[in-house]
Amino acid sequence: MTKEKKIFVCQECGHISVRWLGKCPSCGAWNSFYEERTNQATTFHEKQKPHLISEIKSSDNIRVSTTIGELDRTLGGGLVGGAVVLLSGEPGIGKSTLVLLVSARLSGQGKKVLYISAEESLQQVSMRAERLGIKNAGTLFFVPENELKTIGEALESVMPDTVIVDSVQMIYDSEFDYPFGSVFQVKRAAQFFIEWAKKGNHSVFLIGHITKEGSIAGPKILEHLVDVVLYFEGDRLSNLRILRGMKNRFGSTDEIGVFKMDSSGLVEVPDSSRLFVSSISAAHPGLVIFPAQEGRRTILVEIQSLITTSYLGVPRRTFTGLDYNRVNLVLAVLEKKLRMNLASRDVYFNVSGGLRITESAADLAIAVASISSYRDVSCLPETVFIGEIALTGEIRPVQHIATRLKEAARLGFKQAFVPPGSEGVSSSGIKTVEVGWLGDIAGLAFKGAKDDIHR
Ligand code: TYD
Ligand code: MG
Repeated sequence: MTKEKKIFVCQECGHISVRWLGKCPSCGAWNSFYEERTNQATTFHEKQKPHLISEIKSSDNIRVSTTIGELDRTLGGGLVGGAVVLLSGEPGIGKSTLVLLVSARLSGQGKKVLYISAEESLQQVSMRAERLGIKNAGTLFFVPENELKTIGEALESVMPDTVIVDSVQMIYDSEFDYPFGSVFQVKRAAQFFIEWAKKGNHSVFLIGHITKEGSIAGPKILEHLVDVVLYFEGDRLSNLRILRGMKNRFGSTDEIGVFKMDSSGLVEVPDSSRLFVSSISAAHPGLVIFPAQEGRRTILVEIQSLITTSYLGVPRRTFTGLDYNRVNLVLAVLEKKLRMNLASRDVYFNVSGGLRITESAADLAIAVASISSYRDVSCLPETVFIGEIALTGEIRPVQHIATRLKEAARLGFKQAFVPPGSEGVSSSGIKTVEVGWLGDIAGLAFKGAKDDIHR
């Protein structure tokens, strides 16, 4: 038998220490260390025998459509029995609304759903249901409860096919003296529902809040325990919401789902490719259109840049919706290869609609937006830019070029600047201009532009 050891765990972030500490060296929380024993059960264990691979049936994992196409797409084609899905997002983004919609749709197919509302009263949930126009959900049960034993009893009495836990941070086991939302309680709750899902081949949605500061324990710690991790995100100011797969043991993670949140609820947006572009012909300095690839779907987005004289000791660089290091790399290449003077400039970037672009294929669009704002000239209208930029200033090929061009052509774009040797470009119905070096783009991408970047 292994010897029992005492450890202290920060209940905010999970940092482990061999002695008690007043302040967590990892997350800076005060009085957050609780004693745990290494054999103390946060998990429920079941013995397993080895199986031959030929004996294992994959048909156990039949997918059930939630009838919400955008969610099915993000899940990899529907909900798998026995799958535990963690839905994370900032408070107020629409997680409860989405899972309520899922509950109603599953109930509409005759599935029994138990919605554990640990945060809101039944009145609040019913008000939301009314707002969403949910009626006749005859197999949808609610329980306003957050204690694990009582929840266990509710599960036994309802015997649901699917369970919604809203939110997992509010569930606790009264047997253990740890506070709400602590690492221990959140893990314990998650393990309880995971075990329940696996035992009966049921599906579970765990809702988890995250904040910008990441100050609430939970989702991060749970991510490796669950099968699927979905992030619900969006710009508070716009009503667009994006559901993004971050982990999926049953499918790919590069699909996104697009929704609109309006007064009548959450609406799917299946044809989202031009939602993020205000107009294909609007030309403003600093504005460039980029066909982003999100899984199998192309979405055209506006990349907006603003480069102004800085009045600060350290100029400001604020990039929203783009990878910070990637933009800095492009700016460094522009500075070195095109001799743009950015040392005393503030640089701002934004991506329309709150979308996040991390692909290196956006490098060329970022560069053109920078040059456009720096020189205060608009780039050519009805034009898109695709390409990765190497440190040498060369423009490199990217993936899915044909798909991107096809979608741009469908939406009425006339011209695309692409890396040399891009395949499948001739059939896409859009004029393509191959550029191999960043220096060339400065003379080509702007109306009546000469190669006068050095002025
Ligand atoms: P909610 O699902 O409660 O967010 P979360 O569970 O992620 O905290 O949604 C909160 C916001 O959504 C709230 O500000 C109101 C808005 N909303 C609508 O705009 N339309 C609707 O039909 C509903 C139900 C909510
Ligand atoms: Mg909620």
